[in-house]
Amino acid sequence: MTEFSMRNGSPVAPGEPLPPPEVLPPDARVDLARERADSHADEVLDALDAELIGLVPVKTRIREIAALLLIDRVRGRFGIDSGRPNLHMCFTGSPGTGKTTVAVRLAELLHRLGYIRKGHLVSVTRDDLVGQYVGHTAPKTKEVLKRAMGGVLFIDEAYYLYRAENERDYGQEAIEILLQVMENNRDDLVVVLAGYKDRMDSFFSSNPGMSSRIAHHIDFPDYATDELEAIGRLMTAREGYRLSDEAEPVFRSYLERRREQPRFANARSVRNALERARLRHASRLLAAGGEVTRDDLTTLRPEDFLASRVFET
Ligand SMILES: Nc1ncnc2c1ncn2[C@@H]1O[C@H](COP(=O)(O)OP(=O)(O)OP(=O)(O)O)[C@@H](O)[C@H]1O
Ligand SMILES: [Mg+2]
Repeated sequence: MTEFSMRNGSPVAPGEPLPPPEVLPPDARVDLARERADSHADEVLDALDAELIGLVPVKTRIREIAALLLIDRVRGRFGIDSGRPNLHMCFTGSPGTGKTTVAVRLAELLHRLGYIRKGHLVSVTRDDLVGQYVGHTAPKTKEVLKRAMGGVLFIDEAYYLYRAENERDYGQEAIEILLQVMENNRDDLVVVLAGYKDRMDSFFSSNPGMSSRIAHHIDFPDYATDELEAIGRLMTAREGYRLSDEAEPVFRSYLERRREQPRFANARSVRNALERARLRHASRLLAAGGEVTRDDLTTLRPEDFLASRVFET
């Protein structure tokens, strides 16, 4: 179980949730721009745009949800009660496509818009929810739910909760508890189920109760090579490195080869490749000895990538 919060080490200053609205007379007028600025939601949305390459449909949906919550809030000020929208979601996509990163941002956004009290994210898998023995599952699941209240509960590879081949699997117990909480504590907990699309689809067809509680299905497509390259550029810049002109095409060809190989994990593989390039860069500088310039310290060269096993085949 991992807990994330944009409150620690985040480039975005922590926002305070909006105070509860006072009721306005029917002929009042509300300045939407002001309302929007007061929520500081745009800071999160802009950071999402700037820090994540691509993912346009994902970003669009998140903006739509932000708009809905803002308008709902203004409606509330006129005493129009539409009930809290259901915001449980399903994020489908391959490993390393940004699901966890977006969910952490989403948690902060929902907090700023007054939807959840705390805005943290608790990320779990089956093992955090389901026990090995009879009677262990309910307390485990409830403990996780307690920690997640006021925030987002992110269940990675959620389909492992359900084992079709075993009717008495304890996962079923965890699912039942989740279903209840998703219905009854909607105003204080958002559940995000994540995993591969095909497996999630079959999970939903065996668990229609779960399917009907999910309001938003958001798909995270695999990145194109251009996007992986842009992600790499963003990561190197953020860490105070750059690619030399000769290293650019080598890095691209690294990505083209890597994506065809086993266990390719999109942006996470880019991150790992750059970490190994940093190791080689450091060893190369030390082995050369002598003096170094600022440029030496910041420039990744072709050999920092070419030594990779990816180029062996
Ligand atoms: N579009 C993107 N632009 C820049 N960086 C990205 C993008 N997508 C992912 N990353 C980075 O890649 C890494 C992996 O992303 P993340 O953990 O969010 O993926 P995930 O979909 O949750 O993967 P998994 O299913 O393996 O948990 C993170 O360091 C994240 O910042
Ligand atoms: Mg993840």
